[in-house]
Amino acid sequence: MAKRIGILTGGGDCPGLNPAIRGAVIKAHELGYECLGIQEGWKGMINGAAEPLTRAMVEEIVGLGGTMLGTSRTNPYKKEGGVPKTLETFKKLKLDALIAMGGEDTLGVAAKLYKEHKVPVVGVPKTMDNDLSATDYTFGFDTSVTLAVEAAHRLIDTGRSHRRIMVLEVMGRHAGWVSLFTGIAAGADYICLPERPVDVKDMTEKLKAAHARKKVALVVASEAIDLGDSGKEELDEFGHMILKKRGVAEKLQELIEKQTGTETRASVIGHMQRGGPPTLFDRILGTRVGVKAAELVDGAKFGQMVALRGDAVLGVSLEEATAKLKTVTKDWLALADTLTSTKSKARATAKV
Ligand code: F6P
Repeated sequence: MAKRIGILTGGGDCPGLNPAIRGAVIKAHELGYECLGIQEGWKGMINGAAEPLTRAMVEEIVGLGGTMLGTSRTNPYKKEGGVPKTLETFKKLKLDALIAMGGEDTLGVAAKLYKEHKVPVVGVPKTMDNDLSATDYTFGFDTSVTLAVEAAHRLIDTGRSHRRIMVLEVMGRHAGWVSLFTGIAAGADYICLPERPVDVKDMTEKLKAAHARKKVALVVASEAIDLGDSGKEELDEFGHMILKKRGVAEKLQELIEKQTGTETRASVIGHMQRGGPPTLFDRILGTRVGVKAAELVDGAKFGQMVALRGDAVLGVSLEEATAKLKTVTKDWLALADTLTSTKSKARATAKV
């Protein structure tokens, strides 16, 4: 009888998951395994909801957003009997291995199941937040930022027509990578990140100067920035704040309008960032990490996660990979500051 791999996708979906599923299934089949698609993340392992994954089912999904397996933020460690049920499902479905595709939460569960119960699991990192420390990039990030940059350019067009300051709130949870890359790539005049408190004086000066030069100014803000009012938020099953309810964009809009005296408008791109076809980068990365996951299973490299390091995809320890969140570093903050700086030692016009 062929050996059997279960594949699940957990946490927030992101573009690149379908290419990763396709890569894993095609490689697994080549290596002689059957594949079962576990439905809706860890919830499917608790309920035993699974369907066979055939070649025909994954053949045409490389360009599709979302995840064909469905997802959830279910945490077996937070559900009554969740872990024993997960172990039972593993046996009932006659699985030999599990490929868990997810971010820090889904992979954190995978790491614990491996450590505490020796579940033969391999992790595939995914998250539009790009906040997993063991890998250079996660798929989903490129597509989300590409969309956010386009949204920012649209805001600049309408903002300039009305001589306004525009605020774009982006997702990214507790890491500012999405706002940083969006801000840099769209030429924002100020970038607000969760890694440091908003310096209202500095922001006001820069926005006033930018508006005077260009008749428009753009702020890109992460949903998780500290405006001095955190601490009362609702939490999900993994203990994360449900950030959508914070209203960062509106609060910033009011603050900026008051400080600058310039009419300001705010937009929240939200979940639009998570849908849509994956970019070329995310299709290729998703495919590569999916294929590598099947190879790790075949090599019995359990308790590992696939990581992108430079141009190589390789296996790293799941436990280490989920131990620490990757947040924006000082060097990147310095780059953002350089690009939004209004200081200049040079003459405005060079003599020729
Ligand atoms: O972790 C991915 C992410 O998109 C975050 O950027 C965001 O804060 C969160 O998921 C939103 O979660 P949900 O889809 O459950 O509202």
